[in-house]
This record gives sequence, structure tokens and C-alpha cells, in this order.
Amino acid sequence: NISGFSLDEYVTCCAKADASPYTDLIEVNVSCPNVHHGGMSFGTDPHMVYDVTRAVKEVCRKPVYMKLSPNVTDIVSIAQACEEGGADGLSLINTLMGMRIDLKKRAPVLANTTGGLSGPAVFPVALRMVWQVYEAVHLPIIGMGGIQSAEDVLEMMLAGATAVQVGAANLVNPFACQEIIDSLPGLMERLGIQEINEIIGGAHRWEKM
Ligand SMILES: Cc1cc2nc3c(=O)[nH]c(=O)nc-3n(C[C@H](O)[C@H](O)[C@H](O)COP(=O)(O)O)c2cc1C
Repeated sequence: NISGFSLDEYVTCCAKADASPYTDLIEVNVSCPNVHHGGMSFGTDPHMVYDVTRAVKEVCRKPVYMKLSPNVTDIVSIAQACEEGGADGLSLINTLMGMRIDLKKRAPVLANTTGGLSGPAVFPVALRMVWQVYEAVHLPIIGMGGIQSAEDVLEMMLAGATAVQVGAANLVNPFACQEIIDSLPGLMERLGIQEINEIIGGAHRWEKM
């Protein structure tokens, strides 16, 4: 997972990661809300995200997945810019920009004033964005944002994700991933799902019936 403060930095870091025998896939983070420059600003403008995608693809032989920010009005235009730029896949979503205020200090809780919100609160937003992007582009999607159970995994896949990532849930329960993996087969059986890949985007097919 690579972030950068300039186009050159993205290209240099991605080329280095690409050359490593330990790298199977490069996820380009154009969506970090916790820095003042670079990061998210690249992922909120379709032209900039297109430029980063093209530039990184020119120096990488391994699959390049662009990781999108939810802090945009139109996620589809950003996803399409990645597709036009040659991305091999998309990861979404990164954290939503948020903040809290300390009542006693009457000051923002975070040193940075604002920061990235993750966890179960963002799951419906993530699901909606995966749904919209699946309808608009023909790239595999890694879905993430608030996933904390096998049920969430299946929902995300029905919306269009080919794979999922689990982030914040691990901070609450270090065994979250293992527990999700262990409970998936039983849940699939109860829901009559024989092969998990069959459900990718399945909720879209239902809608059109
Ligand atoms: C502590 C923390 C650190 C994170 N660091 C990164 C990062 O370095 N690069 C990145 O692309 N996303 C980063 N994220 C975002 C997560 O990968 C993920 O996109 C987001 O938190 C939503 O998923 P979740 O609710 O499962 O955590 C971070 C999230 C958290 C909570």
C-alpha cells in the first residue's frame, strides 16, 4: 500500500515496490485523509487520479489497485478515471473524514483537528459505493469499510466486491479475521451458497429480475 505527496513520489515508491519479490499486488492510496498535502487530494479529482494511475502503471508490471476515497461527491467518476488510466482493480473505501470535540478542553480531540473515521459506522457508505462502482466499471473491486462479520463479507460481495479487507475490526478484536474466515462456511451453508464467487454482484442481478 503506497501513498505519496507528489506524482514523482508515487512513481518512485511504486516502482520500488514492484521490483520487490515480496510484492504480489500494489495498492495505491490516493485517499489518505490524515495528511495535509498529497494523499487524499490526488483521489478527489478525476484528472489527478487518472494521472497517478497512468504514471504508476507505466513503471509497474504487477497488478495495480487504486484505493479510493469516500470523501467525494461522485465516486463513479473517480473509479472511471482509474479504469481509463489502466488500473487493474479498485479498493474502496478509505476512511471518511470526521472529527470530535473534547467538551472539557473545548478543542478538537485529534491533534490534526480532523481524521479518518473507520469501523462499523462507515459500512453502509462503503457498501453503497461498492454497489455504484460495480455498476459503472469493469474492474475487480476489493471492498472494505466497517467489515466485522461473515455477514458483512457476504453483503459486500453481493454489492460487487471480489475480495474484502478487514481493518478497524482487528483493533477491537485481534482474532476478527480468523473468526470471520471460520464462520463463513457455516453461514454460506445456512444461506444456500455453494461457491462464494457466485455471489459477487449478486444483489444487482436480483434488482434487474
Ligand atoms: C489505524 C488505521 C490505519 C490506516 N492506515 C492506512 C494506510 O496506511 N493506507 C491506507 O490506504 N488505508 C489506511 N487505513 C484505512 C483502512 O485500510 C480502511 O480503508 C478503512 O479503515 C476502512 O476499513 P475498516 O473500517 O475495516 O478499517 C487505515 C485505517 C486505520 C483505522
